[in-house]
Amino acid sequence: MKETTQSKLEIRNLHLHFGKKEILKGISLHVPDKAITALIGPSGCGKSTLLRSLNRLHDLNPDARLKGNILLDGKSILEKKKDVTDIRRRIGMVFQKPNPFPKTIFENVAYGLKINGLHHTERLRERVEHALRESFLWEEVHDQLDEPALELSGGQQQRLCIARAIAVEPEVLLMDEPCSALDPISTDKIEHLMLRLRERFCIVIVTHNMQQAQRVADFTAFMYLGNLIEHGTTAEIFENPQQELTKNYVSGNFG
Ligand SMILES: Nc1ncnc2c1ncn2[C@@H]1O[C@H](COP(=O)(O)OP(=O)(O)OP(=O)(O)O)[C@@H](O)[C@H]1O
Ligand SMILES: [Mg+2]
Repeated sequence: MKETTQSKLEIRNLHLHFGKKEILKGISLHVPDKAITALIGPSGCGKSTLLRSLNRLHDLNPDARLKGNILLDGKSILEKKKDVTDIRRRIGMVFQKPNPFPKTIFENVAYGLKINGLHHTERLRERVEHALRESFLWEEVHDQLDEPALELSGGQQQRLCIARAIAVEPEVLLMDEPCSALDPISTDKIEHLMLRLRERFCIVIVTHNMQQAQRVADFTAFMYLGNLIEHGTTAEIFENPQQELTKNYVSGNFG
């Protein structure tokens, strides 16, 4: 396990309401750089809502109200005047269900690069290849880059979505149950990929898979009904939890 303490993201007393309902009830969490932090907790406790807040994905929901703050390298990402495109370049997101665009494999990975102003054909080609290699997908797709991404298998599509997310060189990678739709072999590939990407990025992953959290996460945060109950190294949370709720959850007594 890594011993890093420098915070890349800092969540400060974050409250989120959808209409009248309070979904996040004052979450505070330091997320270190170059490490994997897992968010765990029973269905409906607010994991995805928290993750989406980190990517400003509630911006377009008129019912969503946020209070508190989220800092990236010490600077708020919640200010209205902040450029959301820039935040999403620095903080990438991968969803539970692979969601490639209905475009070619190449265009999927090149998409964000083009949005960020890269149009030089040879440069684009290099960056696309690099991202696909990093996602352990290059060997499988290098001779079909102009074919539709939607014809790939589910596990390949998810690795493509990861390639798309990392192509723009983000600093933080958010992953919401990235393996829950995948078979064990694809899951294993994605876990290896996460462990490698951790050397360069700050990674936050939501997972229902307790074994997965223990295999990949340096730190684990346990959420329950919109509260963050306990946070520590993964070994602390699974082997020596301080709170009764955490103890019950990680021992499989509810969930
Ligand atoms: N757009 C929305 N509008 C209103 N309520 C929402 C919205 N999105 C989520 N919720 C509510 O917020 C709560 C937390 O949902 P969230 O999706 O964050 O849970 P989760 O911990 O990710 O659960 P799961 O493990 O099932 O994915 C739930 O009660 C859900 O109904
Ligand atoms: Mg969820």
